[in-house]
Amino acid sequence: MKFFIDTANLAQIKEAHDLGVLDGVTTNPSLMAKEGITGEENVINHYKAICEITDGDVSAEVISTTFEEMIAEGEALAKLHERIVVKVPMLKDGVKAIKYFTEKGIKTNCTLIFSAGQALLAAKAGATYVSPFIGRLDDISTDGLTLIEDIRTIFDNYGYTTQILAASARHPMHIINCAKLGADVVTAPLAPILALLKHPLTDNGLAQFLADHAKAAGK
Ligand code: E4P
Repeated sequence: MKFFIDTANLAQIKEAHDLGVLDGVTTNPSLMAKEGITGEENVINHYKAICEITDGDVSAEVISTTFEEMIAEGEALAKLHERIVVKVPMLKDGVKAIKYFTEKGIKTNCTLIFSAGQALLAAKAGATYVSPFIGRLDDISTDGLTLIEDIRTIFDNYGYTTQILAASARHPMHIINCAKLGADVVTAPLAPILALLKHPLTDNGLAQFLADHAKAAGK
């Protein structure tokens, strides 16, 4: 399973990259705003900076919501760097735009997926990735992981090559359960990724090993 980091924070992207497990980056307009990135030139430069850190795919989301505008915006984003993936919202015009981008050889990530039907439409349009938002479904008392399971079944039934990019992962168990269910990618903030490292028995065991070593060495 691939690990993407879900942030526009360059220091956190670098930290995940340096850990050696980063396969890509997802951003969205809220994450860009959180870092104070506004204005076309700043946004463009920020995407370029992200592409300089990671050697994986970088999702850059269009702000437009009509077919013509999404095409213009997406084509400009795709020209920024070979690893840019155009992130397109699940809309009627978005599905049409994904089809257009696919035919042009531009990679896409269909975002804001909350149902298996939406994922199926995006896959049929040729999306490179679909992003089901599991945390936001959990927030409204609907099991986000069931959606991952349903999409996996549907894509496997018909051999769709669209990758399931489980998004809105909020804690380490989301990541582990997505891996169990066969998600192709999970995108999460840095904290849940780093939380996978931790186990109290590891900490206790290491402390004991080091203490025994020091004792035997007469320190
Ligand atoms: C996906 O690409 C989104 O950027 C993200 O995962 C949304 O996460 P949130 O629901 O925690 O905002």
